[in-house]
Amino acid sequence: MTPLRLAILISGRGTNMEAILRAAEADDYPARPVLVLSNRPEAQGLETAANAGLSAVSVDHKAYGKDRESFERALQSVLIEHQIEMVVLAGFMRILTPWFVSQWTGRMINIHPSLLPKYPGLHTHQRALDSGDAEAGCSVHWVTEGVDEGGVIAQARVSVLANDTADTLADRVLGEEHKLYPKAVALAAEQIRSKKKPLSV
Ligand code: GAR
Repeated sequence: MTPLRLAILISGRGTNMEAILRAAEADDYPARPVLVLSNRPEAQGLETAANAGLSAVSVDHKAYGKDRESFERALQSVLIEHQIEMVVLAGFMRILTPWFVSQWTGRMINIHPSLLPKYPGLHTHQRALDSGDAEAGCSVHWVTEGVDEGGVIAQARVSVLANDTADTLADRVLGEEHKLYPKAVALAAEQIRSKKKPLSV
């Protein structure tokens, strides 16, 4: 079967994006990254993507002020132009409107640095430490209207250590993200391609 044409949306350094690009080099990977799109022109990941031979495009959200939907309409035209079939959010730090989400329902996934449903939103590692959790981790989920609320596709766990700070915990979780996300992208892509069972969005 033909691999799905994949767009990866980023806002910063793009290490999860890199992990997906590496995995997608395998002949049997069910998705082919063709576009990396950032809402920040200075995002480090854009350069990495361009060096890897992908289209690397920025749509600066600041140019649209508070008008989220016109920013997203600009994103959507780039996605359409590149004939994108699946969208992967990898450290994309903009909240999406119901309009954009509805364009990609069942075809858009996100990685979040907590064991959802715990700690949607920001500062996940500090919140895990403040709660005295024994475990932390990351989740890959379908994107729905509610922020970080869609069906979970896969999770990875790490133990919280006695001397952990938010930074040391974030580093350890990030290492797991890099292993988990490429596998979860493949799972979701297979599910989208096969259309055999209803999507667990
Ligand atoms: C990752 O830890 C990802 O889980 C998180 O941002 C980081 C991006 O790192 N995403 C969120 O917090 C989304 N709410 P990266 O740019 O190196 O992949």
